[in-house]
Amino acid sequence: MKKLIAGNWKMNTDLSQGSELISSITDKIQANKELQDNCDFLVCPPFVYLSSIKGVASGAQDCSSHKSGAYTGEISASMIKDCGGSYVILGHSERRSYHGESSAVVSDKAKAAHEAGLIAIICVGESENQRDQGQEQTVVGGQLLGSIPDTATAQNTVIAYEPVWAIGTGKTASPKDVADMHSFIRSKLNGLIEGSEKVRILYGGSMKPENAGELLAIPNVDGGLIGGASLNADAFIEIGLAAWAN
Ligand code: 13P
Repeated sequence: MKKLIAGNWKMNTDLSQGSELISSITDKIQANKELQDNCDFLVCPPFVYLSSIKGVASGAQDCSSHKSGAYTGEISASMIKDCGGSYVILGHSERRSYHGESSAVVSDKAKAAHEAGLIAIICVGESENQRDQGQEQTVVGGQLLGSIPDTATAQNTVIAYEPVWAIGTGKTASPKDVADMHSFIRSKLNGLIEGSEKVRILYGGSMKPENAGELLAIPNVDGGLIGGASLNADAFIEIGLAAWAN
């Protein structure tokens, strides 16, 4: 499976920094045919900069579960599509914890995304406390069951495993923990999504050029969802290079 290298810019960059970042990323990808052949790249900027992204696939970091109407401040999936986006990240742990998004809400949003023709990247992951208590598979299994709508297919859905304690902390899960969780996720998808063996499962949480090669070589790790390192064009591209160097 071709690896998906996805950048989640979160609430970072201004218009000029974002434009510089995307043009630098695009130039580096366009200059390297082998990289294009081996990886798909995606960037997810803040909503307001989505229309400025050209030359690489783009997506948003959230969407409304509603199609349109009196929902002040919300952005619909079709608006994202209209601005050139083809993906949307849903159920990121920052949305689940700071905005109280339940798996049921994530499922409704994913359904809206699918209906608008977007690919939903559904995020799951346990907290440090849950892992310490040996609850990681129960938590992630429950999130998968609750967050994946019946509109999901292998083409319109990507899963991102992001252990909450590894996000922005510099800590990464050990290769064995990642291997165990990704194989658990793959087995859980069987029954939830037809053709589940073709669903991409990304790893996210302090992925950087130094650890990307090892993480991306693990079976069932089909790419990365990258926060901090995606804000640096060289680091983002080096992660892509590490994906197929192994
Ligand atoms: P970091 O790569 O900064 O740990 O963020 C990961 C993440 O949350 C991507 O969605």
